[in-house]
Amino acid sequence: MKRTKIIDTQDLVGKEVNLYGWINIRRDHGKLIFIDLRDRSGVVQAVFSPSDTELRETADKLRPEWVVRLKGKVKVRPEKMFNPEIPTGKVEIEPLELEVLNEAETPPFALDTDGYEIGEESRMTYRYLDLRRPRLLKNISKRHEMVLFMRNWLSGMEFWEIETPILTKSTPEGARDYVVPSRLYPSKFFALPQSPQQYKQLLMTAGVERYFQIARCFRDEDTRGDRQPEFTQLDLEMSFVTQEDILNLIEELFTSLVKNICPSKKITQSPWPRLSHREARKKYGTDKPDLRKNKKDSDELAFAWITDFPLFAKQTEDDFFHGSGSAKFAPSHHMFTAPHPDDIALLDSDPLKVRGLQYDFILNGYEVGGGSIRIHQPEIQEKIFNLIGFTKEQKKQFEHILTAFTYGAPPHGGIAPGIDRFVMILAGEPNIREIMAFPKTGDGRDLMMEAPSEVSPAQLKELHIKIVK
Ligand code: AMO
Repeated sequence: MKRTKIIDTQDLVGKEVNLYGWINIRRDHGKLIFIDLRDRSGVVQAVFSPSDTELRETADKLRPEWVVRLKGKVKVRPEKMFNPEIPTGKVEIEPLELEVLNEAETPPFALDTDGYEIGEESRMTYRYLDLRRPRLLKNISKRHEMVLFMRNWLSGMEFWEIETPILTKSTPEGARDYVVPSRLYPSKFFALPQSPQQYKQLLMTAGVERYFQIARCFRDEDTRGDRQPEFTQLDLEMSFVTQEDILNLIEELFTSLVKNICPSKKITQSPWPRLSHREARKKYGTDKPDLRKNKKDSDELAFAWITDFPLFAKQTEDDFFHGSGSAKFAPSHHMFTAPHPDDIALLDSDPLKVRGLQYDFILNGYEVGGGSIRIHQPEIQEKIFNLIGFTKEQKKQFEHILTAFTYGAPPHGGIAPGIDRFVMILAGEPNIREIMAFPKTGDGRDLMMEAPSEVSPAQLKELHIKIVK
């Protein structure tokens, strides 16, 4: 007999159904045994009466998290037993067959709560159990719906989804790289991408015109509530566009995503307000102000654009991409951002006054995405490298992109909204760990897999690596 989803039992009164799932709760009321059976669609109650001794005997053994198949008849509950808390609350299952598919140890923590009260250490060690709680399964499924919407929407706008390498050379985005030793080339390393920035620009040079990717990014930086060492961007890039085109496209995409996937959410202001970086700092003291009218209303979404960022900030010792020459300036977004055309002359006279064609997309006080129109002329790119203070050797690291631009690079630009942050805000979660299936802990570990871990001496030898303790 075909499997029935538990949620569908509410509409199948009088019918026989074949359910598969986990025992959520078992309550022994002496004469009657009640179980709540759970699959990812929902929970339904089954009642075992003393009349069928064989069924009753099996039901007696059931414990939370055992996996079972239950065939039964859907019946309407007595009215005073209706449970308005769940969609299947008006029905219950009268069992006909019960098969235990797998027994379970008692879980290390409760699975029928929202889980916020449980320590990170246990939640992450047993993440596969933690994920069973309906709150987390709902987050994972919402994330899936959102990503699928983005994919379909962009494909409808003639974007192509293209994968770019994970084993690559670093694109400095302001963080430390994760590096991977090469076995074939002793003392050489790959870097994991901080973002696909250079690849997407090279795809524009290749004539792709419209690219996107659900892109995994890696940054070796301290974890925070809205920051993970490994995270996902909706990375996109377009040729022959202005800043205005990109802002409008993103605004349209996210507005229709909210309408379709999260219809209960209200967007505070449409079109999204736009503030210059200077205005935002002056008026709110931050470049990511929370513009919600009522910050207690969980359904309010205050999107806004911040534009006209200064192209450069003063370079500090903490900048990972600092030039070793006599440089003074660090790019405030990244080194491929185009200067505002009205400010080109200032590149020579007063670089800190130059505005970049750069924009951030903010939501409820978070920076969700950042992007820019890029430099596509090799001589301007070279000028920016000089202002950062790149030496000849450092410039050589970017030779491929300078060379590429000499072969007819189209004007192009793009943006990369952070998917984790966006889903976190829409799900009303306080931390991006709650909307990632397998996040790292606050101290950057995977406790379930016990990573990072040591590797064998043989592996080290093959990689030409000696550990100095
Ligand atoms: P940027 O570095 O601003 O731009 O990143 C874009 C967006 O990615 C998300 N994000 C993160 N999310 C979770 N954890 C992190 N550690 C983390 N770091 C960044 C944020 C952020 O707004 N290549 C450029 C984009 C471009 O110019 O097109 C880039 O990566 O939501």
